[in-house]
Amino acid sequence: MFYPFEPYKIKVLESVKILNKSERVKMLQEADYNLFKIPSEKVTIDLLTDSGTSALSQGQWSQMMLGDESYASAKSWERFETAVKNFTGKKEVIPVHQGRAAEKIIAEALLEKNDIAFSNSFFDTTRANFEHRGAMCIDVPTEKSADLSKPKLFKGDIDGKKLRKLLSRYGKRAKFVLMTLTNNTGGGQPASLKNVELAASITGKRGLKFIVDACRIAENAYFIWLTEQKRQGSIKSIIRKLFASADIAYMSTKKDGLANSGGFIVTNDKSLAAKLKELAVLYEGFVTYGGMAGREMETIARGLEEVVEPTYLEHRIGQVAYLHSELSKIAIPLINPPGGHAVYVDAGKLFSHIPQNEFPGQALAAALYQEGGIRSVEIGFLMLGQKAKPDLVRLAIPRRTYTQSHFDFVVEVFKKIIANKKEYRGFKIIWQPSSLRHFTCKLKPL
Ligand SMILES: Cc1ncc(COP(=O)(O)O)c(C=O)c1O
Repeated sequence: MFYPFEPYKIKVLESVKILNKSERVKMLQEADYNLFKIPSEKVTIDLLTDSGTSALSQGQWSQMMLGDESYASAKSWERFETAVKNFTGKKEVIPVHQGRAAEKIIAEALLEKNDIAFSNSFFDTTRANFEHRGAMCIDVPTEKSADLSKPKLFKGDIDGKKLRKLLSRYGKRAKFVLMTLTNNTGGGQPASLKNVELAASITGKRGLKFIVDACRIAENAYFIWLTEQKRQGSIKSIIRKLFASADIAYMSTKKDGLANSGGFIVTNDKSLAAKLKELAVLYEGFVTYGGMAGREMETIARGLEEVVEPTYLEHRIGQVAYLHSELSKIAIPLINPPGGHAVYVDAGKLFSHIPQNEFPGQALAAALYQEGGIRSVEIGFLMLGQKAKPDLVRLAIPRRTYTQSHFDFVVEVFKKIIANKKEYRGFKIIWQPSSLRHFTCKLKPL
């Protein structure tokens, strides 16, 4: 597959450390085979997450110097607010320090015990914040998303028919519908504009709120532009249409804000905004900074302009597609088609000699580090317990950070692993906390 050439040149360097294999084996032992515990300077290619890991442009770095760190109504706030209004088309902007802060505020403003929220798929922090209020979260993905290997378009859609039925069934307990764009939990798959508008109309007819989690909305809009819109119109106008369908939208700007921090909530509803702002002051800080420094608001303001550039998005989505295609060529089982921000490996299938209760996903993640210093994340039995189906390893791609040769190296490491795959063994847990065990648990090879 053609690798889209980088639409930028490198000006500032961060060296990567290349350890030898015995050093990496030692690092794994010292970290109890938990990759979260490996110091980042001991990682050669870090594909743990695309969140907050973007490289900043010279425009962002220079704008950062204009950061106004006044407590209230700073110039940086004005620039941030203007950029967010321009990006979203919404009138009310509530700044927050990251995505889950927006989720907490929305949960407190809209949800009571026993309420129900629906989604194409809730991201884990979204679900956790809503369930923390005593509410129930129901995923309503379409059937096409169930077959991971089939390369169907718009696997991030919500099932309209099922949604209608569920809203009728639960009546007054139903509180809102939320679309996650793109659908991180389901493999970074986009939803179509038609589907988002349908979901908004189903929700609106019932007098309920329609919410968009917009953290990867530019990537989602690119897929819409490429296929559904057949390259007609601008990506920015699609982003605007997606926001227009929402009563409330929120965004962790650590993703498509091309920034290392931050976030916001937007709405056109003044009285709802007033309620959200009250909570924001309580948890985040004054309503003109929301937990962000002035210089951070500057990078986000600029990032929201850069992220809609077609050359940027073509390269971004092309990079993910390239790694996906090279891994497919060597028969690595993957979620198809490639999504917006990551390549997901079906580790349960690749390491079928390792039973699920011995963590095949973690075995692959450890093998990737051992053979090439590559850090990935297991999304399987270790992270999700019994709910895991199948055992995945996510290779998330930080924005504007790595180049073709890095991806070619990742493919070489996979080749090495599959040549001797029976040599890799599973793990047993020797210590785990009471919740979210994957972050801190200790493992031992079997
Ligand atoms: C879809 C989605 N929503 C919300 C969040 C939470 O954002 P943050 O990490 O900024 O709290 C994430 C983070 O990865 C995400 O992927």
